[in-house]
Amino acid sequence: MALVITLGVLASGSGTNFQAILDAVAAGRLDARVAVLVCNTPGAGAIERARRAGVEGVVLDHRAHASRAAFDAAVVDVLRARGVELVVLAGFMRLLTDVMLDAYPMRVVNIHPALLPSFPGTHAQKQALAYGVRVTGCTVHLVDRGTDTGPIVAQAAVAVGDDDDEESLRTRILAREHELLPRALQWFAEGRVTIEQAPGQRPRVRVRGAGPAPGVVEG
Ligand code: GAR
Repeated sequence: MALVITLGVLASGSGTNFQAILDAVAAGRLDARVAVLVCNTPGAGAIERARRAGVEGVVLDHRAHASRAAFDAAVVDVLRARGVELVVLAGFMRLLTDVMLDAYPMRVVNIHPALLPSFPGTHAQKQALAYGVRVTGCTVHLVDRGTDTGPIVAQAAVAVGDDDDEESLRTRILAREHELLPRALQWFAEGRVTIEQAPGQRPRVRVRGAGPAPGVVEG
């Protein structure tokens, strides 16, 4: 039986991935309690989603903090005070500092709208179109000190059509994100995610008890 993991979700925008987490919890597909939503942009849609779901929403405007580290320290205070075990970046558009990564080492999960290591950073869909790839997708990964460089937990593929534009691709990738993120979080809730690192190699995620390709969702 899975334990109930305590999540803290960080979002900057409309919060559809946050909503997917809330929906998965409500449907019994994700054994989690969302203790708090932290949002750095006043008025963002994610805040209203938290209110509707009865989840505490905390707005911390990054512009009101003297530095990135000071902002992260304020976020960490909020998360720790609520017993958060795993931090989820669900469309959180701020780079994290060591303050957050030292407080939650290998316990910060991000969703990115591309198949990493391709197209990290911002405008991933635009980057994919500009490059002309035939397949892109989304990636759930642990956050390390680089930009979208941390160990990969799960990926889902999305085909790129000749008529796709940034918006159509964004919409199709987002639909896959909404499936992938709650599924990957459930692996954490079940305590199945471990990190292995051979000398001189990148750290790699293993998902215990999964099939031969646990991180891949076909589509
Ligand atoms: C999602 O596509 C997410 O992958 C992306 O922002 C969007 C947020 O949508 N995140 C990044 O690009 C992080 N670098 P949402 O607010 O509707 O969940």
